[in-house]
Amino acid sequence: MIIHGKAFEPYITHQQLESAVKRLGESISADYNNKPLLILPVLNGSFMFAADLVRHITVACNISFVKASSYQGMQSTGHIKQLIGLNEDISQYHVLIVEDIIDTGETVHHLMQDLEERNPLSVQVACCLFKKEALKQPIDPQYVGFEIENVFVVGYGLDYDGLGRNLPEVYKITTN
Ligand code: IMP
Ligand code: MG
Repeated sequence: MIIHGKAFEPYITHQQLESAVKRLGESISADYNNKPLLILPVLNGSFMFAADLVRHITVACNISFVKASSYQGMQSTGHIKQLIGLNEDISQYHVLIVEDIIDTGETVHHLMQDLEERNPLSVQVACCLFKKEALKQPIDPQYVGFEIENVFVVGYGLDYDGLGRNLPEVYKITTN
């Protein structure tokens, strides 16, 4: 498959995604039984993973989509991610961030800092894909669909310059 002139090859099948999502949903359901749960999928990338995941969550939960918006930091540290779209009081909730992918971990790290300031009961992370080797922040996601190699991927919500989010499976860039 060619996207923006680059070749991609199949990497994770729809069936593999389905069984990982089911496993994560069951595990989340067991862990949050009788706890006030607020699920925060991070747009845009997590829309597909989140929609599939919550179908396997059998405990009561609130779901609110948020966005990690980049803004230029004041101290030349580059792009800092800021949480937008969360208006509710989260102090009575156990929060579960739902991400499509953790790469350097910068995004989730900043979201967690932002959330912690709002004093939730707890904050955990569920991600579909985890590029563990690329990690630059001390992020330890509790729920991981797949640990993947440090390679660029598209599909299942993830895009390459705007394209590929609608693909039901994950593709990786062809390197040879
Ligand atoms: P971070 O480096 O962990 O902050 O990753 C932040 C964001 O980069 C993710 O939420 C994705 O939107 C994007 N990203 C990282 N790796 C990939 C990839 O392989 N394909 C598409 N988007 C990616
Ligand atoms: Mg994302």
